[in-house]
Amino acid sequence: MVKPSDIPLPTQPLQSLPDNAHLECPEELLKHIEEDAGTLLDLANQSIVSARQFDRERVMQLCRLAAKYETTAVPVQRPLTGKILISAFYEPSTRTRLSFESAWHRLGGDIMSITDPGTTGIAKGESYRDVAEMLSSYGDVIVLRDTDQNAIFEMMKALRVPIINAGNGIDEHPTQALADIFAILKWRPDLLELDITEDRKIRIGIIGVPGRMRTVRSLLLLLSLFGYAIKEVVIICNTREVFAKGQREELEQRGLTVRVTTEMDAELPNLDVVYINAIVWSGNSYEEHGTEYCLTKDSPLREDAIVLHPLARGSELSTDLDETPHNWYFAQARGAVYIRMALLTCYVWLF
Ligand code: CP
Repeated sequence: MVKPSDIPLPTQPLQSLPDNAHLECPEELLKHIEEDAGTLLDLANQSIVSARQFDRERVMQLCRLAAKYETTAVPVQRPLTGKILISAFYEPSTRTRLSFESAWHRLGGDIMSITDPGTTGIAKGESYRDVAEMLSSYGDVIVLRDTDQNAIFEMMKALRVPIINAGNGIDEHPTQALADIFAILKWRPDLLELDITEDRKIRIGIIGVPGRMRTVRSLLLLLSLFGYAIKEVVIICNTREVFAKGQREELEQRGLTVRVTTEMDAELPNLDVVYINAIVWSGNSYEEHGTEYCLTKDSPLREDAIVLHPLARGSELSTDLDETPHNWYFAQARGAVYIRMALLTCYVWLF
């Protein structure tokens, strides 16, 4: 029989956080945003499908609440006790599913999780509407990731409970964009100042394809709410079709200055934020874009530039950046729990 004293003790100490947790300033963000929870009230009875549903004030208040959660070790209240989240992910996910589920658990709720549509009636040809009818009876809020970008819209025709888009094909991923903005504002809370001076405005580079990447599409929409603090957004991309139809025009109309280039190394020394992504899920497999672009610790990044990536990464983002001050992609993923807690808290007003 094995006695506790027979079990070898670990010789390695636990790893400390590998990135720049000490540089994140959720406390500063709290100081920069005056609380106005009323702004979030009307999210209570809304499904979240697109980043277009958020205005600047709502994003600020969600970030404020997220910062409050991040600076509170354990939420004092568990406002979702007795409420059920149905977490339906019909496409692989590490961060989105687990951070949504972590957020709901931390708020006291219960979860039913579907990770394979083949275990539901969808495999037998059941319609989205019929599935939606059932989900309305069994859960209080639905989170859906589906490779079919129309699935969420079809389900909404029959749903009687809110649904949150956790990635619909190549269309949108609005809550990822909230996590991206939360990371950017923790890095530079002064970007919230409407009278920000010219020399403090930032230049953002996006290495990716806005027309094919849902994370980029939603992020650009949210960035346009902060256009007054952004000198320009530089899209670094070498595909022929960079934007979806009307996408660039919409962003420019919303106040973003957008430029496209193929030259990454020439742009890096002038960028404050570098957002990179390469993988796109399409149908049952994935596409890789911009495989010739690769960020490493030897890339000509500004000393104070931050790197963001929605993850999962491929060869475009070298692990040798993990130990540098440029690594904000782990902070971005970690903050996703708090921003999703903030969003899910809004549903408390529904119940
Ligand atoms: N950022 C993101 O969507 O990651 P997952 O695919 O792991 O959910």
